[in-house]
Amino acid sequence: MNIIGFESSCDETGVALVSTEKGLLSHALHTQIAMHREYGGVVPELASRDHIRRVLPLTRQVLDEAGLTMDQIDAVAYTAGPGLAGALLVGASVAQSFAWARDLPAIPIHHLEGHLLSPLLAEPRPQFPFVALLVSGGHTQLMRVDGVGAYELLGETLDDAAGEAFDKTAKLMGLGYPGGPALSKLAERGDAASFDLPRPMLHSGDLDFSFSGLKTAVLTRLKSIEKRSGHLEPQQQADLAAATQAAIVDVLAEKSLKAMKRTGFKRLVVAGGVGANRLLRDRLVLAMKKMGGEVFFPPLDLCTDNGAMIAYAAACRVQAGLVDLASGDHAFTVRPRWDLQEISQGRAEGEAHA
Ligand code: KG4
Ligand code: ZN
Repeated sequence: MNIIGFESSCDETGVALVSTEKGLLSHALHTQIAMHREYGGVVPELASRDHIRRVLPLTRQVLDEAGLTMDQIDAVAYTAGPGLAGALLVGASVAQSFAWARDLPAIPIHHLEGHLLSPLLAEPRPQFPFVALLVSGGHTQLMRVDGVGAYELLGETLDDAAGEAFDKTAKLMGLGYPGGPALSKLAERGDAASFDLPRPMLHSGDLDFSFSGLKTAVLTRLKSIEKRSGHLEPQQQADLAAATQAAIVDVLAEKSLKAMKRTGFKRLVVAGGVGANRLLRDRLVLAMKKMGGEVFFPPLDLCTDNGAMIAYAAACRVQAGLVDLASGDHAFTVRPRWDLQEISQGRAEGEAHA
């Protein structure tokens, strides 16, 4: 079965083709980063308009690359939430129109389920059950994953997401948008020990996170440097970037380990844009080696938003028997706010498909 997937929840337009038998056939992506850069963040109205411009050329591209025609598509998947309402509506309406015109089933997908299952697109594939660390621009969550559709929240951020912490501190330091990649690049030439930054909630005893205090701590350091010498030297900027990255990664790694201990699982899966962070990857590989576990990441190009994870999540749900393929109803809605646990079927059902 060939499934076409559309992702348009934020600032990336992604389209992909996945076969339930052969896996990923093709995927194409347009990132709006350059367009939003001059505003220092995502402008929702511009995002929606750009999705409209990009979605059909990208659709043609993935069909050509896979050597398929529209007649060979069997189902249409799209991100139904969470995300920006207007942006989500673009992907949803294109997908539903496609499905209606070709009389195909349409499969709404939760964006985080896409991220969560994306490490299964890489080899070696993690087996269920596992602990998932979801770290994106909008979410920071630790989940217990027993199978497709069987998700249990173990802990989450109480305020800013990890990606947001990268983005906001980078902005304070005058780095570009998005801040994560810029800050981690700068951190390579910095000394993390030069600044003593807090590790919020490191010893809170639970699996929750809080990153807004870190942003305030960075602002305080910047203000005191400005007061002393008027400006930030390039080396100081690199040192502060390294210290910020180290603080975020310390907390993410420590809480992930705690989640492994609590569940007794030996497999950790990392997903979402911050999963591209080199220090986080290295730290988790080392930590898992120490505890006799394994850590899995999505392919680097599928860490940030993309259509492949949406088409793939739909394929997983179809194979797990969680989709009503006979439904011809093309009325749709999007869910800008949507808790992943709402789509969880509970442990037993997921395990059957592990
Ligand atoms: O998953 P994603 O593409 O979008 C959301 O669903 O939010 O994640 C984007 C986030 C941004 O906050 C970005 O700064 C962060 O991922 N990010 C990184 C890196 N690459 C992307 N953060 C740290 N290090 C990176 N290398
Ligand atoms: Zn995302």
